[in-house]
Parts: sequence; structure tokens; C-alpha cells
Amino acid sequence: MGFSKLGQSFTAREILDLVREDLRKVEREISLESVASVDAITTIGKYLQDGGGKRLRPTLLLLACRLFGEPPESAIRLAAVIEIIHTATLVHDDVIDIAKTRRGRPSPNVIWGNHTSVLAGDWLYMQAFQMALRERSFHVLDLLIGLTQMMVEGELLQLDRIRKIDISEADYMELVDRKTASLFSVAARLGAITAGADDVSEARLGEYGWSLGIAFQLVDDVLDFTADESVLGKPVGNDLREGKVTLPLIYALEQASGSERELVGTVLADASYHHVPFSTILELIERHDGISRVKARAQMFTDKARSIAMGFPESPYQRALVALTDLVTERDY
Ligand code: IPE
Ligand code: IPE
Ligand code: MG
Ligand code: MG
Repeated sequence: MGFSKLGQSFTAREILDLVREDLRKVEREISLESVASVDAITTIGKYLQDGGGKRLRPTLLLLACRLFGEPPESAIRLAAVIEIIHTATLVHDDVIDIAKTRRGRPSPNVIWGNHTSVLAGDWLYMQAFQMALRERSFHVLDLLIGLTQMMVEGELLQLDRIRKIDISEADYMELVDRKTASLFSVAARLGAITAGADDVSEARLGEYGWSLGIAFQLVDDVLDFTADESVLGKPVGNDLREGKVTLPLIYALEQASGSERELVGTVLADASYHHVPFSTILELIERHDGISRVKARAQMFTDKARSIAMGFPESPYQRALVALTDLVTERDY
């Protein structure tokens, strides 16, 4: 994991060390399961796997599972399932967003085109479900199918709101819930389920994952304005160029003057920073404390996640879940 800041009691490396062996098995599972009889799919799967990525969702699942004991084979497999679902959503998302870059490299749609990318994403989804089916668990399938529908509906809602300036905080939170928090929540719950934990623990871990996921996306949307492009692995200022009005801008727009709103409207209409440079938008956001207000909001969700994690019996894995909350808010990519 490439988080650069230290956690409260654990560094990112120390957290990773706790699940390093598990993650190695997850990677092997992903490699073995991403092989199709048609080369394009195998190539795209391998390209994305090799592209890196933080493996945050499988890490979350494995840490949650390890709260209760040694992860069974099911936990490894479902961690792979969660990462493959995540990958499939990214492949489709990059087609929808006409993205150019993913994980610091050209995104699949740039290399293989939209048609092939859509089909590869479909295949990856189905492969993930086929793997999940091996659990013979309706509860697991129910969670994963509900999750995937939530995420797809989220992408559709986002499309509906694209290039619109009057996005409310509630509209925005609905999208974040669907496209990010729900996946984090299911990852954490699957950790509890594979460990055979009780329903209350599963629900609490689900809430932990959900809060962490919300904070993660809020920070992601801050990073879109503030990050170093080479560290982030995607271009900055991208969200607004893609027509997405995210929370730092929503907060700024609440206080903005008519002429400031026009500047934002121009970028949305142009789909570029050709007439209004990115620095102007960033200044506008800073003038209205957009960044710091979103950071404070994210902190509220990590505080929530932390307090849930603190409720579990003390162990290295429990402390890692606590520390993960700080790493999410302090990350720089
Ligand atoms: C990207 O997720 C999609 C969002 C929810 C912002 P990550 O930032 O976890 O992507 P990778 O897997 O590390 O590339
Ligand atoms: C991320 O959505 C993909 C999903 C979680 C479905 P975004 O479009 O907001 O994120 P990036 O910037 O492409 O990673
Ligand atoms: Mg998107
Ligand atoms: Mg995108």
C-alpha cells in the first residue's frame, strides 16, 4: 500500500505486513481466475493487476476476518472477488468517463477501445460471481449482487447529474454511498462472514467499512484538486473537467458570487480548463474553504469508523483497523 504518512500506532507497512501473506494468495487467486479463452480479457485483466492499485478492499476484508481468527480459503477467494469487482467497475468507469489514465498508465479504454473494455468488464463481473458461487451461500450472493446493482445505479445517477452545477450535498452523498462506501462496507462484512462471526459483528464491521469508504471518497475528491499528478496516478482537476461537481466545489458554490459560479459553469460547458484555468477554480475553492471543510467532514466519518473499530477486542488486527482510518484521511494518493 502506498500511503506515505504514519498512522497513529501502525505504519502502512506494518498494516500490510499483517496481511502480506494473505494478499499474496489473493493475487495468485486473481491471476488464476482472470484467464479467459479469449486473449483480450486475459491481457486486460493482467494489465490492470500489474498496474498496482492499493488493494485496500481486500486488505479491509482480511483484517476484518483476522479479528476473529486465521482466514479460511473462503476469505482469500472473496477478497479476490471484491478486488475483481472493483477492477470491473474501474474498467467500465473509465469508458463512461472517457478517462485517459488509470493507476499511472493509459486506461484500458485508451489501449483496447470502448467495445473491448466493456466486454472485458462484463466478463470480470461474471467471473467474480462465478467464484463467489463456490461459497454456496445465498447471503454472500445477495450481498454481492445488491452491491453491484447499487454501484451501477450510482454510475447511472452520476451520468444524469453530469455537467450540472446545482448538485446538492445530499445528491453528492448519495453517489458516494453507492459508488464507494457500499463496496467498502461489503468487503468488511465479508471478512466477518468468512470468519463465522455473529450478525452483530458483521453489521458493525459493515458500518465501519461504510464510514471508511465515505471518508475515502471525500479524500479522493479533495485529492482531485490538491494532489501531485505523478503521485496520484490520474490527472488533477479531472472531476470537474469530466463534469462532476464534487463536495469541495459544492461547498464553495454555496457561498460563491454570481461571477464565480459563471467561472465554474464555463469549465463545465467547455469540459476543459481552456478558458478558465484550473488554478482559478482552485483559488475559488480555497477562498470559500472548500478543501478544509471537506477534510473536516471526512474526519467525522473516520472518527465514526475509528470508534467502531475501538469496540472490538484488542489485537494487532483491531489496531490495524483503527490505524487505517488515519491513513485514509492522510493519504496523498
Ligand atoms: C478508485 O479506487 C475508485 C474510487 C473509489 C475513487 P482506489 O483509489 O482504491 O483505486 P486503486 O485500486 O488503488 O487503483
Ligand atoms: C470511481 O468513480 C469508480 C467507481 C467507484 C464506480 P470515479 O469516476 O469518481 O473515480 P475515478 O476518479 O475514475 O477513480
Ligand atoms: Mg466515474
Ligand atoms: Mg472515473
